[in-house]
Amino acid sequence: MRISANLSKVETVIEKENRYGAHNYHPLPVVLEKGEGVFLWDVEGKKYYDFLSAYSAVNQGHCHPRIIGALKEQAEKLTLTSRAFYNNKLGDLEEFMCKLFGYDKALIMNSGVEAVESAMKLCRKWAYQVKGVPANQAKIVFANGNFHGRTISVISASDDESATTNFGPFVDGILRVPYNNVEAFETLLKEDKNIAGFIVEPIQGEAGVVVPDSDYLSRINALCKQYNVLFIADEIQTGIARTGEMLASYDINSKDKTNQPDMIILGKAISGGVLPVSAVLANDEIMLTIKPGEHGSTYGGNPLACAVAQEALQVVLDENLTDNAKRLGEILRNGLEAIAKRIGIIEQVRGKGLLNAIVIYCPEDSNMAWDICVKFQENGLLAKPTQGNKIRFAPPLVITEAQINECLVIIEKSLLEFANQPVKPHIG
Ligand SMILES: Cc1ncc(COP(=O)(O)O)c(C=O)c1O
Repeated sequence: MRISANLSKVETVIEKENRYGAHNYHPLPVVLEKGEGVFLWDVEGKKYYDFLSAYSAVNQGHCHPRIIGALKEQAEKLTLTSRAFYNNKLGDLEEFMCKLFGYDKALIMNSGVEAVESAMKLCRKWAYQVKGVPANQAKIVFANGNFHGRTISVISASDDESATTNFGPFVDGILRVPYNNVEAFETLLKEDKNIAGFIVEPIQGEAGVVVPDSDYLSRINALCKQYNVLFIADEIQTGIARTGEMLASYDINSKDKTNQPDMIILGKAISGGVLPVSAVLANDEIMLTIKPGEHGSTYGGNPLACAVAQEALQVVLDENLTDNAKRLGEILRNGLEAIAKRIGIIEQVRGKGLLNAIVIYCPEDSNMAWDICVKFQENGLLAKPTQGNKIRFAPPLVITEAQINECLVIIEKSLLEFANQPVKPHIG
């Protein structure tokens, strides 16, 4: 074994993390120290395209000057008060978000999973206080293949063994249905009068960018209304312009509110990758079921987070990132389809806006997608496999057409190195 003094900068960092950090992630062997827009640089000065965007948190690009400006300005005035007192930034963000997304109230938290937990608590409260479900009988439905975070109650809804094995016992009151299956959901609604809500991702990101039928969400929403069940969209990954609209679950500019979810859960890009900020949006009938003292967080709604989040959301609007995501997403998918036809290693290209994935022709448990990502890294592009044989392509939404084209060249060049492996033909 080499002694520490002989290790490269990269090896030294990796060794330190392995030595002192919990082993709960398996990162690519790249050590980053700088980010700007769509680019990242490693400790040796090598430049990369970021095709992950911190799991869609950095929609506005790394270290966006306006967001960093808001951070610096607020950091010098006031960072944390707790909610024992009012601060002069929280109300501004709440008003901004309510008006932008069309809800009565916003609940500001920190991490995404905390917002999912908050939505679950609101859903249960509403079930007992408004719907009239008997005490402790409320159930919340989730979809198979879901990913909503890592806490005990949220993994209680997961069917991913690596997320759940040896973490039991799990919380009660959770049901699961197949994703993109309206009939299965209706069967469940008919069988169980105590269902309080359905929490669902408009596109399943962690499952490998699984895009449901275009009418899936509206049909689920209609059923929820019919059976007096809350329709709750987890837009933590899909929201904030990622899929070419501000939200993937409904058009926030539409006067027709038929398809508006009862609750929206947001996180990640609401702060442009600068601070952990998350939120639940709902109308008064739901949000006001929780009273003072019944829910909270020391850092939730802190003035620093609020100043950053408001600026980050304003940047998305001012730079029209929805249109960019929509237009460049199409260019990216068309380019990937063309590569798939030329090389035949890609089984499927899928996605919406700039939330995309390719499925590689290989068994889910093979290392091929990982090896391809290491090759992308060598060639200057960072992406990560998800669910074995899928690779997500989700660059910051500030990317340009010329940059997308440059990335397609890197992707093709990298995939060509795997093309001598026996693969089935691309089926489109
Ligand atoms: C749809 C969805 N919900 C919830 C989460 C959890 O967010 P966080 O990691 O901030 O807790 C994620 C994270 O990837 C997500 O994609």
